[in-house]
Order: sequence, then C-alpha cells, then structure tokens
Amino acid sequence: MISEKTQKKIESIASKLPQRAAAMLSALRLIQDEIGHVPPEEREWLAGKLGVSPAAVEAVLSFYTLFRREPEGKYTIWVCSTLPCALRGCELLMDHLRHALGIREGETSPDRRITLKRAECLGGCDRAPVVQVGEDYHDVLLDLSLGTAKVSFERVEALLEKLT
Ligand code: FES
Repeated sequence: MISEKTQKKIESIASKLPQRAAAMLSALRLIQDEIGHVPPEEREWLAGKLGVSPAAVEAVLSFYTLFRREPEGKYTIWVCSTLPCALRGCELLMDHLRHALGIREGETSPDRRITLKRAECLGGCDRAPVVQVGEDYHDVLLDLSLGTAKVSFERVEALLEKLT
C-alpha cells in the first residue's frame, strides 16, 4: 500500500477540486512514482478515495500508456508503430529488438532490465521510425540510406548496451 504521505497528498489534491474524480491523473502519477506501477489494491483504494467506480480507474489506466499496471524493467523501450513510423520500418525494428532481447512485446527481459512495448505516435514523426526510452528519443536505428530500410545492428546494439 502507498505511504501515508502519498495518501495525504492525494487527499489534499482531491479536496481542492470541484470534483474529486478530477484528481485521477495526479493521483495515479503519485502512486506510480512511489511504487513503480499501479497495483490492483491501489486501484481499488483510489476508486473509493475519489468516489468513482473501479472501472473508471481501469479506463484511465488503460488509456494512458504512461501508466504501468504491472512491474516493468528498469528501462522500457517504446517502439512507435503509428503510420509514419510503420511506413519507415518500425516492424523491422520491433522484430530485431524482440530477437535481440529474447522476449515478446509487453514482456520484460529475465534480468528485469528492459521491457519492450509498442506505442502510438510519440510525437517525433519527422524522425520516424522513433523509439523512446525514458525521456530520450532514438531515431537513427534504421539505415535508410540505400532507399530500403534495414536495421542498423550497430546502433541498436549501442542503445541496448547503454541500458545497463
Ligand atoms: S508516428 Fe511515430 S512518432 Fe509519430
């Protein structure tokens, strides 16, 4: 369960808003900041605290990809697969990362270091295909110089080596 301090912060935010439910995003963020994800027990607690149904909390959690329902690795690699990135070879990248990490999409490497996820547009379409890790974009993982997209093994390896 989250700490008393975080519970008080959430109550303080909710009590200042005209509708307690409006504190949902801030509260989820605070819970995730403390625990690393938003476990079922905290989802139930939050629903009660904000006077909403558990389904309302689930809906918000599943809409925003920044929220984690399960524990993840130290790093999460997000591979954008929206149209501009899809047209420029994001599936090649995803295949390569799955193979290199030995995991499927949504899974975490056995050493709990890396989670691999698919994202909707990451806001860097002009640099497609885009991969995001933390606050950083990595947009040069494919070699497009010959007109045909190919995974740059060296660049992907360099990225994975950095994530230690
Ligand atoms: S479509 Fe991939 S960053 Fe926008």
